[in-house]
Amino acid sequence: MTGIHGSNFYASVLVLHGPNLNLLGQREPGVYGSQSLEEINSLLAAEAVRLGVKVTPFQSNHEGVLIDNIHAATKQHQGIVINAGAYTHTSVAIRDAIAGVNLPAVEVHLSNIYRREDFRHNSYIAPVVIGQISGFGVQSYILGLQALVHYLRKNET
Ligand code: DQA
Repeated sequence: MTGIHGSNFYASVLVLHGPNLNLLGQREPGVYGSQSLEEINSLLAAEAVRLGVKVTPFQSNHEGVLIDNIHAATKQHQGIVINAGAYTHTSVAIRDAIAGVNLPAVEVHLSNIYRREDFRHNSYIAPVVIGQISGFGVQSYILGLQALVHYLRKNET
């Protein structure tokens, strides 16, 4: 498939949503906005068409299921956009899964985790991803996808 860049570049990206993100729209809208997860996934799908890539969204409230999906991603995807939700601040296991598969990943957060409670200031994931985008609401996902695709294009072999 040919994207806006006009080359034959094509990539498949896994978008992982962690715990409680299925509640988006109703969950603390002052912090996370009023858009549902389905709406976010639709915006990502539209951006993917524009970029000439494929996105596969997946949400789970379970740490092990997220880890299984990170492992399985190596077979089908070239990169991962991940909002690990609260697991960002607790999960060595998700960090190890990302470090253990040979796939570039971008960490995203709707809220600016550094403007919030102290316990949100540490991300176990940040040291094993290309970069982190935090605080731009739904746009964090779009920026994260753009950054990942830019990275993949640059490192295309
Ligand atoms: C979040 C920030 C986390 O601290 C929180 O636990 C979430 C969502 C965000 O997108 O802003 O569930 O990852």
